[in-house]
Amino acid sequence: MTKIDVTVDGVKYTDDVEPRTLLVHYLREQIGKVGTVVGCDTSNCGACTVDLDGQSVKSCTVLAVQADGSEVTTIEGLADEDGNLHPMQTAFHEQHALQCGFCTPGMIMACRDLLKNNPNPSEEEIRAGIEGNLCRCTGYQNIVRAVQAAAGNVTTGSGVSA
Ligand code: FES
Ligand code: FES
Repeated sequence: MTKIDVTVDGVKYTDDVEPRTLLVHYLREQIGKVGTVVGCDTSNCGACTVDLDGQSVKSCTVLAVQADGSEVTTIEGLADEDGNLHPMQTAFHEQHALQCGFCTPGMIMACRDLLKNNPNPSEEEIRAGIEGNLCRCTGYQNIVRAVQAAAGNVTTGSGVSA
């Protein structure tokens, strides 16, 4: 076992982990962050996407020990202290950007990262930016609209400012 210190969604944790434990399994099974989900075992689906020290990562491709000393933000840490949703969460809600919802936590994390790096993306850039996240319900059209809404680029329906 290896001891790690990691801050997750603003809370500090000190835990013993197996050297082979994946970050996603640490998050879900050791500290109960089940909002981050596992959708594949091939590093393809992006459902497990979290923010690690400001970088969007698939948490099934990172060992928990690699997060030692780091800050992790999951979908559960996006809302503010008063419970107000992050603008990307609001945009997904208002633009109906989910069906079964399984891909949604990772998709929102990836879309948030996309806008952080490119606040005014074209549709092509949005589609390219979420290439690593699969939606099995194929709801991509509304996901793209949600990103456009969060960027302030949807004029019909309920627009959301970023
Ligand atoms: Fe990590 Fe699918 S569970 S990419
Ligand atoms: Fe079902 Fe994307 S909403 S997998």
